[in-house]
Amino acid sequence: MILIFDFGSQTCHLIARRLSNLGVEVKIVDPELEIEKIKKLDPAGIIFSGGPASVYQRKAPKIDRAVFDLGAPILGICYGWQLIAYLLGGKVVSGSKEYGPAAIKLKLKDKELKILDNLPQSFTVWLSHGDTVNKLPSGFRVIGSTKDVRACFSVNKKRKIYGLQFHPEVEHTVKGKDILKNFAQKICRLKIKKRKISLTKIIQKIKKEVGRNNKVVCAVSGGIDSTTTAVLIGRAIGKNLIPIYIENGLMRLGTKEEVKKTFKKLLQMEPIIIDKQELFLKKLKGVINPEEKRKIIGSLYIRLFEKEAQKIKGVKYLAQGTIYSDVIESKGTKKASKIKSHHNVAGLPEKMKLKLIEPLRSFYKDEVRLIGKKLGLADSIVFKQPFPGPGQAIRIIGQITKDRLQKQQQTDQIVLQELEKAGWLKKVFQSFPIMTGVKSTAVKGDARFYGEVVALRVYGSSDIMTASWSRLPYDLLQKIASRIVNEVAGVSRVVYDITTKPPATMEWE
Ligand code: XMP
Repeated sequence: MILIFDFGSQTCHLIARRLSNLGVEVKIVDPELEIEKIKKLDPAGIIFSGGPASVYQRKAPKIDRAVFDLGAPILGICYGWQLIAYLLGGKVVSGSKEYGPAAIKLKLKDKELKILDNLPQSFTVWLSHGDTVNKLPSGFRVIGSTKDVRACFSVNKKRKIYGLQFHPEVEHTVKGKDILKNFAQKICRLKIKKRKISLTKIIQKIKKEVGRNNKVVCAVSGGIDSTTTAVLIGRAIGKNLIPIYIENGLMRLGTKEEVKKTFKKLLQMEPIIIDKQELFLKKLKGVINPEEKRKIIGSLYIRLFEKEAQKIKGVKYLAQGTIYSDVIESKGTKKASKIKSHHNVAGLPEKMKLKLIEPLRSFYKDEVRLIGKKLGLADSIVFKQPFPGPGQAIRIIGQITKDRLQKQQQTDQIVLQELEKAGWLKKVFQSFPIMTGVKSTAVKGDARFYGEVVALRVYGSSDIMTASWSRLPYDLLQKIASRIVNEVAGVSRVVYDITTKPPATMEWE
């Protein structure tokens, strides 16, 4: 088993997942776990995750130095590596911040270094850090550097300690999976076998949790997460599943109709539709703070569900399509710094009258897609773009008015249509316009016009933790921009967002 010390990285669980995918047993633990307990776990290897702290901070998470004497190979990632260097007598400096992609160049001369097996001389790595190691502890040497970071990949071969300044667990580190595989298989000498997802097990777990006669109300939005959740529960408990769609007016155009059609086809049932568009708009009136928007939408949403559920006899559970990234990005693991509160987790009222059931809570997006596919869902659902719970509300910067919402939805549809026509929709992770709230000048029909600037955000990602903007063809960008300024009243200009995640988040709010 490989033990992972969680120093609070947003991507700590990705390390676990990459290794689990290889069939390696992993356990994430608090770095403060007593050494005796660590010894009892008898790890074949130890990984120090990244984290938001800086080693010289007074409250920075530390570990018992005795860990270095266990004899298990150690891989330090970002903060984890800095901590190793610091504890073993090296020096860490802050300042040379580098975020996003960088090219690493390896010194491949040492064929004995199994961690380098099957790695090319140079590849792209993903960095997200403020500090770097500028003096190595004794016994270490650098085996890979980027333009700005010398000790990007370092090693102490004798002690089997490896230090990475980049994140091998994220998708955008091109050879990251190979590095983790080499560490597990060739350094820790663990067996690699493919991890399988068992539908039967997931369905049995739902049956066991819910029982025979209890009813489950399921929040459905038409997206992959809630549809897969509903179908899984439907498979487990049949007609005791009651899907409910709340029309909050903030979804993509045509969503309600699509939901009705989908549930008829997949589960031969009609979802209950609650139309509360006006109420949502009323509650959001004058609200400009994004977190406040999320909280308002989230709690109103849950309250409406509760109210509906009370009308139905025997309802004990509320099902939600929460997936793993929602959980970690909201609450984080113990030491992670909070980024955004995703409404389907953090907005829940304290005293929920219904028990919560979230069968996809431990799965990442691509695993959910796999489950959906196994359940026989159509590709149009399986490969549908994820859509945030608060919907268009967090894509309209500032106040949400009926007028701006309409503008947003119309623009959104143009973007989707054009990407679809050009064959790009399937290739991107998410795509949407943002009403920026900024005004700029244009000339429409020979007259000066002062209207809103729309930003376009289109990007690829497979782990949600990282993303890079899509290199859309210029002609396609041109087509989208001219359709928007010509067809949508009140828009003066279109700009394209070319920021990677990190540091920028996918959504603007
Ligand atoms: P960020 O902006 O955090 O987005 O990089 C990561 C993913 O999460 C989605 N997202 C949300 N989903 N409620 C949701 O259900 C939210 O409040 C929320 N905020 C962001 C976003 O669309 C992207 O897929």
